[in-house]
Amino acid sequence: MTAKLIDGKALASSIRKGVREAIEDRSRHGFRAPGLAVVLVGDDPASEIYVSHKRRDCKEVGITSFAHDLPASITQAELHALIDRLNADPEVDGILVQLPLPQHIDSVPVLERIRPDKDVDGFHPYNVGRLAQRIPKLRPCTPFGVIRLLESIGETFKGRHAVVVGASNIVGRPMALELLLAGATVTICHRFTHDLEEHVSRADILVVGVGKPGLVKGEWIKPGSTVVDVGINRQADGTLVGDIEFEKACERAAWITPVPGGVGPMTRAMLLLNTLNAAREHAERE
Ligand code: GUN
Repeated sequence: MTAKLIDGKALASSIRKGVREAIEDRSRHGFRAPGLAVVLVGDDPASEIYVSHKRRDCKEVGITSFAHDLPASITQAELHALIDRLNADPEVDGILVQLPLPQHIDSVPVLERIRPDKDVDGFHPYNVGRLAQRIPKLRPCTPFGVIRLLESIGETFKGRHAVVVGASNIVGRPMALELLLAGATVTICHRFTHDLEEHVSRADILVVGVGKPGLVKGEWIKPGSTVVDVGINRQADGTLVGDIEFEKACERAAWITPVPGGVGPMTRAMLLLNTLNAAREHAERE
């Protein structure tokens, strides 16, 4: 079997088009453009690239992005003060603090300080809690994007065994909650799991987000399964690879996401959708 590719680039493009049309329609009805504050601390090269892509996406769909590029020397208190200002700013519908933050900053109180209705990354405990209780509001972008990708190939989830590898706050944990919400039977594997191969080989739907190239071997993949690789690892020659042995996995899976061009563009598209939804809610309250 040669797996079919799940085209995240194409689906993300159609989602951006939908967001742009919705914003144009809102503008014709007198609503201002949604606003997204993008906070970048320090000069991590990968974060700089991610943030520049996010700002470009905003421009494409008609979201106003407010750039807050801060030196790595900023203090915790100064960052909190910025969040407070953005929370109070009526032009700002969404606040995104690019992670990771520098070592001396504790990200937990920073993310908890963001108003939940402006938390377009979906990282605030309020939004993760809503997802856990089956009443999602602003949903973490990567897992939300993966669900959309799976729906696009006709995945119905119920009765299917989903295995999530990685238990991070950004990917694995909310991913498991999304799959549970969709009706799958969910196993979460992490650094203390024994016999990862055994779990992976029983996955009808496999989602891997760890950040270790080649962690999941192609021969572990269940024949006919759907495989989603959230890993983005830059190799010495500059090329990007995921966490799964792609070529070998293609020989067994029915569907697979490429890296790049799979999950990455969808994460960014869901950020735009969350920002639009936050703006809609703010307009209703005005
Ligand atoms: N760093 C890696 N992924 C993400 C993400 O989805 N959002 C933010 N804010 N930072 C990240």
